Amino acid sequence: MVCIHIMISRPEWSDRRTLEARTRGAALWRKDPIVMGALQITSLPDGRDRELADLWDVCGLVVSYNPPLDDIAFARASADAEILVGLVGDRIVASVLVGHDGHRGWLYYVAVAPDVQGSGYGAAIVAAAEEWLRERGVRKVQLMVRPTNERVLSFYEHLGFERSPVTVMQRWLD
Ligand SMILES: CC(C)(COP(=O)(O)OP(=O)(O)OC[C@H]1O[C@@H](n2cnc3c(N)ncnc32)[C@H](O)[C@@H]1OP(=O)(O)O)[C@@H](O)C(=O)NCCC(=O)NCCS
Repeated sequence: MVCIHIMISRPEWSDRRTLEARTRGAALWRKDPIVMGALQITSLPDGRDRELADLWDVCGLVVSYNPPLDDIAFARASADAEILVGLVGDRIVASVLVGHDGHRGWLYYVAVAPDVQGSGYGAAIVAAAEEWLRERGVRKVQLMVRPTNERVLSFYEHLGFERSPVTVMQRWLD
């Protein structure tokens, strides 16, 4: 599989939604959700794993080799990862799985429910993930885009990400 890395270069903080996310204090994730308009960003609440997996499915992010409920459980068990969700009312409409490997930060499962895409929620959840990483001293954020989803590249470029001239090598560990 060929993967395209994207890394952030110089984030633009001119957007009000992004600025709100950035200026919040540290370690709010589990106590006080970040509020951006109708959107509240918080850690994935207990008991909502299936709803989140369904969001990923409807957004086209589920593949057979990555069972989503396993990915959620693995992230929940990690001290270096967090699943952030955006709630409108009590509905999960946005998500990101953010974590770091001791060096770089990584984003997975960036998703916004199709019926509310284009509302700024994608930019907001990415900004929240970046803030989560910044609070932990991580200086660069990266993500991978499947070759079947290249149209999303312009979304990330809009947020200040740039293409990285590297090739990702991989091997399954059985
Ligand atoms: C990609 C995705 C998360 C974007 O979420 P969204 O809520 O629709 O995006 P936003 O409304 O926050 O858009 C943020 C900015 O990016 C721009 N943008 C969004 N999609 C874009 C696109 N395809 N091309 C160019 N710009 C785009 C918006 O115009 C907006 O710009 P603005 O701040 O000047 O208004 C959403 O479309 C999605 O869930 N897609 C399916 C899942 C997916 O592919 N995830 C990525 C996996 S790598």
